[in-house]
Amino acid sequence: MQILVTGAAGYIGSHVVKQLLEQTDYEIIIIDNLCTGFETTINTLKSLDSTNKRIKYYNQNLSEWEKVEDIFKENNIKEIIHFAASLVVPESVEQPLKYYLNNTANTANLIQIATKYGVNKFIFSSTAAVYGEPNKEDIPVSETTRTSPINPYGSSKLFSESVIKDTAFANETFKFVILRYFNVAGADVDGKIGQSTLNATHLIKVAAETALNKRAKMSIFGDDYDTQDGTCIRDYIHVCDLADAHLKALKYLDTNPSDIFNCGYGYGYSVKEVIDTMKKVSNTDFKVDIVPRRAGDPSTLISNNTKIKTKMNWTPKYNDLELICKTALDWEKNL
Ligand SMILES: NC(=O)c1ccc[n+]([C@@H]2O[C@H](COP(=O)([O-])OP(=O)(O)OC[C@H]3O[C@@H](n4cnc5c(N)ncnc54)[C@H](O)[C@@H]3O)[C@@H](O)[C@H]2O)c1
Repeated sequence: MQILVTGAAGYIGSHVVKQLLEQTDYEIIIIDNLCTGFETTINTLKSLDSTNKRIKYYNQNLSEWEKVEDIFKENNIKEIIHFAASLVVPESVEQPLKYYLNNTANTANLIQIATKYGVNKFIFSSTAAVYGEPNKEDIPVSETTRTSPINPYGSSKLFSESVIKDTAFANETFKFVILRYFNVAGADVDGKIGQSTLNATHLIKVAAETALNKRAKMSIFGDDYDTQDGTCIRDYIHVCDLADAHLKALKYLDTNPSDIFNCGYGYGYSVKEVIDTMKKVSNTDFKVDIVPRRAGDPSTLISNNTKIKTKMNWTPKYNDLELICKTALDWEKNL
């Protein structure tokens, strides 16, 4: 059985491919143009394939639609996990079209080809950014909380969700699971892969880089929020637990209808708590300064994860901030 994984040279996709190799028999077709991913990651994944036959990699931009269709002609793809996207929020404000083209248009095109070639399972990487700034009374946010993105990145993903839902509505053999990720962090617990993103803005990665002196200092964007210590609160999910949700989603679709699920732990930590935890696990006291708030950062974003736990039987294994920080730090040392 073949599965297409787009964006597998990147952070989350590579963790999912590792679990697919370990826990399933899929032959894995990868499309990634390495715009933010790495060939070394593909090579590591290939090295984890004991048969040497299960990974087929295409260095291909999803925007070249005819060439993408050729890949479907050459293979027998019936399932897709679609990670490939652009995902830097401030960049999306400056270059909105990059986001609507890469995230929405390329997703629509991929789905058009997918339906033409009889794909019946589509797992999509969405984001908590589709919720925008939820009202206080809506936290923790559930899948039915009003979606109201406040930047082009979140909008581009919400539009993609509509494309996926409407396609499934019109085509009963095409089923989907949309996973709305909260703050993804940490690295493979075996230390084989991790987040290599250049110029990352993810708090835990930045804190790990600062702990290792790759940055002279790091900043807290605002300490005057209406939270216990004044800094923003987020729901951090370990990338291996998130990867597991994708494998569960594939199985879920065997016997269940299409659906949308939040992926988070249902618990939030403040920016200060995360930094203190990184200082503790790295045994360093790196420099942190307080700078003004960034536009569009909601004070608190926490998932209600009851749906994925009950319907998919998803049971997180790495729900531990120290472990998340430690795996991120260990990976950062490796890089
Ligand atoms: N990292 C997070 O905290 C987070 C949170 C919510 C949602 N997401 C979503 O998860 C997905 C994966 O994110 P990530 O953190 O692994 O990012 P990443 O940048 O590490 O991975 C994205 C991969 O997609 C590839 N890619 C991008 N555009 C492409 C194109 N046009 N053609 C072919 N390949 C292309 C990149 O080269 C890269 O390897 C994205 O869809 C993102 O929106 C991530």
